[in-house]
Amino acid sequence: MSNVRPETMERITTPELANAFIEEQVKEVRAQVGDKKVLLALSGGVDSSVVAALLIKAIGKQLVCVHVNHGLMRKGESEQVIEVFKNQLDANLIYIDATDRFLDLLAGVAEPEKKRKIIGGEFIKVFDEEASKLEGISFLAQGTIYPDILESDGVKAHHNVGGLPEDMQFELVEPVKLLYKDEVRVVGKALGLPASMVDRQPFPGPGLGVRCLGAITRDRLNALREADAILREEFDNAGLNKTVWQYFIAVPDMKSVGVKDSKRYEGWPAIIRAVNTTDAMSATIEEIPYALLHKITARITAEVDGINRVLYDLTPKPIGTIEWE
Ligand code: XMP
Repeated sequence: MSNVRPETMERITTPELANAFIEEQVKEVRAQVGDKKVLLALSGGVDSSVVAALLIKAIGKQLVCVHVNHGLMRKGESEQVIEVFKNQLDANLIYIDATDRFLDLLAGVAEPEKKRKIIGGEFIKVFDEEASKLEGISFLAQGTIYPDILESDGVKAHHNVGGLPEDMQFELVEPVKLLYKDEVRVVGKALGLPASMVDRQPFPGPGLGVRCLGAITRDRLNALREADAILREEFDNAGLNKTVWQYFIAVPDMKSVGVKDSKRYEGWPAIIRAVNTTDAMSATIEEIPYALLHKITARITAEVDGINRVLYDLTPKPIGTIEWE
């Protein structure tokens, strides 16, 4: 397959068009791969999940998926990868819980770029170790999509966690590389993936690692994960998941005094970020109903150990970036 999208290629907007694309790709992948094995780093993000589902349909157990849990996933994400791919789609899935490796390496590291480098580097190491234990792998599948090709050298690996060692000598299988994101989602739905996976918000490769500001500690990371899960649940219930582009919690490395059960209660603030954008280059702030903000504040301060305040970030981009990092 060439790296240029033909002008005649129709935009995939309906289940029918998605099914035609899937059928065509199933044939192409079978022709390319034959009876050989294919390896895929399955992060649980939209692109790698859709590639996994497509390849399972095409070549079944010849696909070996490796999911590395770096301990910085949102609540329930690794569990969902196992449930969908291992339990429902019967995939050949290797699950590695590398939480301790990552968090031990990150201990005491406060500088954002250094944190990103550690997470990216360790990811490659863990994946590489796992790949070298496998025998007879001839192909590497990647969730490259068309914007990756347009914006870079076409290899997603370089700008995300999930980047793979340069010296891996595999032929690439990239079935969605001519598709735009919205088309990948339509194809994912046609393949039967759950909406929560296919409509997932953008999530940085280093995950909650960029939102647990400063040096990550397990207790603060855990507080962030729980607070984020409450925010997502309440936005889902209010239908805001359909109108707000990206929303999450960040927890800075600072404490302030509060009071709980008539006692002094020192805790971290949870900062809510909820933005709308089309291209992530600039972003506006969503007008969240005050009643909902009060409810989220009440739940987070009551249910999450270590959080004693909830703040709402009103800063557009620019001047703020979307992430707090
Ligand atoms: P900023 O913070 O620069 O973020 O305004 C813009 C968008 O990019 C997302 N982001 C990432 N996405 N890998 C990704 O795939 C990354 O390492 C990464 N870092 C930031 C961010 O969530 C926002 O949507």
